[in-house]
Amino acid sequence: MLVKQLTAEHFRNLQTLCLQPCEGCNVIVGQNAQGKTNILEAIWLFTGSKSFRGAKDRELVELDRPEALLSMDFTAAGREQKAELHIDKGRSFTLNGIRLASPAKMAGHFCGIVFSPVHLQLVKDGPEARRRFLDAAYCQHRPGYVTVLGTYLRLLQQRNALLKDARFHRDLEGLLDVFSEKLAAAGAQVWAARQAYVRSLTPVAAEIYGGISAEKEKMTLQYRSSVALPPQEEQWQACFLQALADNREQDLACGSTGVGPHRDDLEIQIDAMPARTYASQGQQRSAVLALKLAEASLLQQTTKEKPVALLDDVMSELDPARQEYILNHILDWQVFITCCDPGPLLRMKSGQQFRIRQGRLLRE
Ligand SMILES: Nc1ncnc2c1ncn2[C@@H]1O[C@H](COP(=O)(O)OP(=O)(O)OP(=O)(O)O)[C@@H](O)[C@H]1O
Ligand SMILES: [Mg+2]
Repeated sequence: MLVKQLTAEHFRNLQTLCLQPCEGCNVIVGQNAQGKTNILEAIWLFTGSKSFRGAKDRELVELDRPEALLSMDFTAAGREQKAELHIDKGRSFTLNGIRLASPAKMAGHFCGIVFSPVHLQLVKDGPEARRRFLDAAYCQHRPGYVTVLGTYLRLLQQRNALLKDARFHRDLEGLLDVFSEKLAAAGAQVWAARQAYVRSLTPVAAEIYGGISAEKEKMTLQYRSSVALPPQEEQWQACFLQALADNREQDLACGSTGVGPHRDDLEIQIDAMPARTYASQGQQRSAVLALKLAEASLLQQTTKEKPVALLDDVMSELDPARQEYILNHILDWQVFITCCDPGPLLRMKSGQQFRIRQGRLLRE
């Protein structure tokens, strides 16, 4: 996967921009609020996902302009390709001259991973951010998982609605059994997917974290299910069904389902202590980076393509040794790194620096 050229018109503060990156490390340097993250966001959108900053499509268009246009020449699947993204109230793609039915259809044609300071929530926040990470990463790994997860979440919503109604209409409780059965079947599939992904992710992330910390610290991952699951996967559905039955009165009282994959967590520990409460800023940042780079590494195994790495403001809070490891570890991928201070990057053996001011790019 290689970005050859990116052009932007009226995308946020990038009125007209043309970036021709190198195949290795591309560093985008500039003061605050000049447009560095906007460039990474523009590249990220070609994965077919929404903005990693949670922005609405309309917010991506330059203020007082009706529309924005992004265009990218890239190499993937061994050939030169061209994608165009038109943004107004929504997003629409053209890939190699053919209009795509929805942005999601871009998935798989261009792939990348992004680290941005918002992703520190992966370690700092509650379990929801970690479940979302696992689910999104596994969707890129096995696109069919979108359907499995969608089915589970729909059934969960329906069961919760039913729990609320059943408080007043006890005759609905028979229907609750039907939904519990269906939810247990879908939930077992979600567990199978997530646990398989965590099994693959754990050694890779641990190795990367070991490298970042010069083997001084150890990171471990553990999938923590809200239902005690035996090792035998074929028993998970029955276990879930039993847990739903055991929690039935409580669920009816709360009007929501208290156990299941939607209540699970991915526990991240550093030196056997929970990273959320014990780890330092630099350790938390390193842990998120290790997870993201491990995600990229697994993605590469599946797609046989090196994903593009987009690292927004990754260097701050890291000591020089950690910075150096990151630069060296990912050097054989195409990487885009933003920073205000180019100092740490001067050790970089090869690569390209770009300077940005008020949305305009000056090649160094
Ligand atoms: N829709 C928009 N129209 C015009 N300008 C916008 C729009 N959205 C964001 N901007 C502006 O783009 C500018 C650059 O944003 P960006 O997040 O890329 O900065 P940055 O260079 O990454 O800064 P920092 O180092 O602080 O992270 C900001 O000043 C912001 O106000
Ligand atoms: Mg920024």
